[in-house]
Amino acid sequence: MPRVIFLTAATLDGFLATDDDSLDWLFATPGGEGGDESFQRFLAGIGVLVQGSTTYEWVLRHEELVAHPERWPEYYGDRPTFVFTSRSLPEVAGADIRFVSGSVADAWADIVAAAGERDVWVVGGGDLAGQFADAGLLDEVRVSIAPVTLASGRPLLPRVLGSDRLRLESVGRSGQFAELTYAVTAP
Ligand SMILES: NC(=O)c1ccc[n+]([C@@H]2O[C@H](COP(=O)([O-])OP(=O)(O)OC[C@H]3O[C@@H](n4cnc5c(N)ncnc54)[C@H](OP(=O)(O)O)[C@@H]3O)[C@@H](O)[C@H]2O)c1
Repeated sequence: MPRVIFLTAATLDGFLATDDDSLDWLFATPGGEGGDESFQRFLAGIGVLVQGSTTYEWVLRHEELVAHPERWPEYYGDRPTFVFTSRSLPEVAGADIRFVSGSVADAWADIVAAAGERDVWVVGGGDLAGQFADAGLLDEVRVSIAPVTLASGRPLLPRVLGSDRLRLESVGRSGQFAELTYAVTAP
C-alpha cells in the first residue's frame, strides 16, 4: 500500500497561502523557490499527486499552463495527478490529470492503482489533507515552516488532531526553514 504524505511549506502561524491565495510570502523567503536536493529525493519516491482545485488553479495561473502545457512536467514530471473538484476545470494538454469529486475513500482504489510501487503526495490544500486524515489514510505530514506570519489565510490542516494522532519524527533545517516531519496515526 502506498504511503500518503502531505508535504508543504507553511507560515509560522500555520497558513499555506494568504486569503487571496498568494504565495508571495514564500517566494520572498530565501530558499522558498523550492526544488532543492531533498525535495528531488522526495519526488523520486512519489508515484501520484493529489490536490484540491484551488491549488490546481493556482499552478495553472502561475505557470500559464493552458497556454504553456510543456511547463507542467517541470513541476510534476509525468506522474498522474488527481484533482478534487465539483467543477469543470481547464485541462493541461498532454498531462495525466484526473478530475474527481466525492470522498477520498471512494477515489482511493484508483489512487493506489496510479501510485504503482511509490507513494502519494498530497500537494494541498489543508482541508484535502484533512479529508485523508479523517479517512485514516494520511501517514505523514512534512512541513517546512517559513519565518513569516500572516495572521489569516488558507489553513495548514484545519482539523483537531491530538498528540495521540501526531508524533514528531524528525526536525531539520534548510536555510530559513524549519523542517518538521510528523507521523499520523488513524483515528
Ligand atoms: N504553501 C505551500 O507550499 C502550498 C502548497 C499547496 C497549496 N498551497 C496554496 O494553498 C491554498 C490552498 O487552497 P484551499 O485551502 O482552498 O485548498 P484546495 O484543496 O487546494 O482546494 C479546495 C477546493 O477543492 C475542491 N475540493 C476539495 N475536496 C473535494 C472533494 N472531496 N470533492 C470535490 N471537490 C473537492 C473544492 O472546490 P470546488 O469543488 O469548487 O472545485 C474546494 O473548495 C491555495 O492557494 C494553494 O495555492 C500552498
